[in-house]
Amino acid sequence: MKKRINKMDEKVGKVLISKEQIEKRIKELAKQISQDYEGKDLICVIILRGAFMFVTDLAKEISIPAKFDFMATSSYGDSTKSSGVVRIYKDLDMNIEGKDVLIIEDIVDTGRTINYLVKNLKTRNPKSLEVCTLLNKPANRVVNVKIKYVGFVIPPEFVIGYGLDFAEDYRHITEVRVFKED
Ligand code: IMP
Repeated sequence: MKKRINKMDEKVGKVLISKEQIEKRIKELAKQISQDYEGKDLICVIILRGAFMFVTDLAKEISIPAKFDFMATSSYGDSTKSSGVVRIYKDLDMNIEGKDVLIIEDIVDTGRTINYLVKNLKTRNPKSLEVCTLLNKPANRVVNVKIKYVGFVIPPEFVIGYGLDFAEDYRHITEVRVFKED
């Protein structure tokens, strides 16, 4: 049976990154991360909710010991434009002091969220702190951020699927698609 996306299907635009492309790139990223963090004390900090699908697939391919903890942030509300105000809805449960921390994000757009998170987590004295994002939209950047692992660089379009939402819809779509605004 073909999956019904939802009643607003006309807003679901063309495929930007296919399921197969995502699978292949995730294997490459996981291999790189496993090599770089071999023998280290890796804690992956997953940024909810957008990164949930990405990390599920990435975690399965990571071949070294790793821990996973979660933070929930929001800056968009029900809009396709960043509000510029980052809120933490759920904080970490683990203590990251002295650990090698890798933030796992779905997308870096203006850079405000990741900039805020990096500053916030640095105050907790991790041994190292790096960023991994599935998608990078550098054209919209307003804050300069250092990203160690990037899945795909994409044009400045609002995208949905593979964990990314518009107003909490479309997260379950299996590929990254363009969102067609009114
Ligand atoms: P930034 O703070 O502008 O970099 O935005 C980061 C957050 O905004 C991401 O974690 C996403 O939740 C959301 N976001 C940015 N661009 C998109 C998009 O194209 N689709 C869905 N969510 C997005």
